[in-house]
Amino acid sequence: MLKDLLKKTRTFRNFDRTKKIDRETLLELIALCRYTPSSANKQPLKFAFAYKQEDCAKILPLLAWAGYLPENKPPYKGNEPTAYILVCYDTDISKNAPEIDIGICSQAIVLGAMEKGIGACMIGSMDKGKMSEVFSLPANIIPRLIIALGAPNEKVVLTDAENGDIKYYRDADDTHFVPKRTLGEILLPEI
Ligand SMILES: Cc1cc2nc3c(=O)[nH]c(=O)nc-3n(C[C@H](O)[C@H](O)[C@H](O)COP(=O)(O)O)c2cc1C
Repeated sequence: MLKDLLKKTRTFRNFDRTKKIDRETLLELIALCRYTPSSANKQPLKFAFAYKQEDCAKILPLLAWAGYLPENKPPYKGNEPTAYILVCYDTDISKNAPEIDIGICSQAIVLGAMEKGIGACMIGSMDKGKMSEVFSLPANIIPRLIIALGAPNEKVVLTDAENGDIKYYRDADDTHFVPKRTLGEILLPEI
């Protein structure tokens, strides 16, 4: 069921590095984006990927993780992502960042990954200039979001947000809690 998959598809930031992700799997996930809607059907998104250890090691320092956690930020040593998909847009097709297309495709990738037992973290905070260098991107290809991937190696629990507090946090056992606003809070008055 879609609801079960959505509930399971949490953001994971620690990964089991003994379980690798191969090139074919990444291509399957990127291919899902061919079936998503696109504004004016322009399909301006382009995707790069990395799965070799030496490439992943170049990407990790360009990313900012878990802004709400005050210290001891994941991924912990030895728990780094084992693959990445970089979501870019082509300025020859769309001058401005097609934010909605980017969100739709990224979610398709993340759901498709979870269906295969692969956890993901969408990351918007990255050094885009250096990322372009690592992937040798031409000037018309602009990185917008990167999806870190790997076998989940942490417990993530959904909770109802209380008093509007939506900041995720970890307890002493390092379980990661993610408060979501209740249905009552996200519903507007009926007409
Ligand atoms: C557009 C977007 C950008 C994000 N950027 C980051 C990021 O830069 N670093 C990070 O650690 N998590 C990032 N996240 C993950 C969010 O923090 C995460 O989705 C949120 O805490 C809710 O957790 P959940 O995905 O398990 O529901 C991003 C998520 C989205 C949708």
